[in-house]
Amino acid sequence: MVNIGRRNLVLAILLLLVIVLAIWWQPDYEHPNVEFLPAMRRSPSFKAYEANPVLPGGTSMQPPIPGTIARGAIVLHYRATPEDALRAGEELKNPIPEQDKQHSASVARGRRVFQTYCSPCHGGGGAADGIVVQRGYPPPPSLLNGKSVQMKDGQLFHILSYGQGNMAPFSGQLLPEQRWDVINFVRSLQKAEAERVKAEAEVKQDSETQRNTSPDKKAKP
Ligand code: HEC
Repeated sequence: MVNIGRRNLVLAILLLLVIVLAIWWQPDYEHPNVEFLPAMRRSPSFKAYEANPVLPGGTSMQPPIPGTIARGAIVLHYRATPEDALRAGEELKNPIPEQDKQHSASVARGRRVFQTYCSPCHGGGGAADGIVVQRGYPPPPSLLNGKSVQMKDGQLFHILSYGQGNMAPFSGQLLPEQRWDVINFVRSLQKAEAERVKAEAEVKQDSETQRNTSPDKKAKP
């Protein structure tokens, strides 16, 4: 007969006990176990958007002191009016103009900004055919051949910073450098559109002159 031995017997009983306990306990893996020192896990601090009985206004987040300017922020001294948009057009200069080495990188960044923030209304190519418009939102003017083509970059910057008509301002979502990037991208769309229209007109003119000057040549291959 196999001699189990006292020690092994005790271990076997312990193992049995553990198995029985595990079955009896029926752990619920969906919920946390008993928490040891729960304050380590559940911080008593207030969350940003939580009501706060201690601070002024009853909110945890407090507004900045009036006149506070974030370090490095650009302060714009304009009002949200069409006149001030024109003034911004005269005064604000595009920091990455077309002749700048960084321009194409700026256009590439601006493309991503446009796809994210502008295309729902203005459409991926700026032709005012975004998904929101297709569902009934009043269509914005085309960015390809509307008034914006003639506007100066600074005026576009004002529109993006302060909004215009039905379009809300984007100063809360886009950093100033992102606004310039997206302006550079819009300019690249407008340039491509102008080139397309020009090429189309040339083709049309070519075929017309051909027809007018040598009608008999038309038959030749
Ligand atoms: C919610 C829809 C919506 C979004 C998103 C939006 N726009 Fe607009 N945008 C409009 C509308 C509507 C107008 C016309 C406003 C008016 O003059 O009444 C407009 C006007 C403009 C104009 C002036 C065009 C003109 O001819 O007067 C520019 C430039 C422009 N948007 C650029 C942008 C850019 C760049 C973005 C992304 C950062 C953007 N918009 C995001 C709806 C939108």
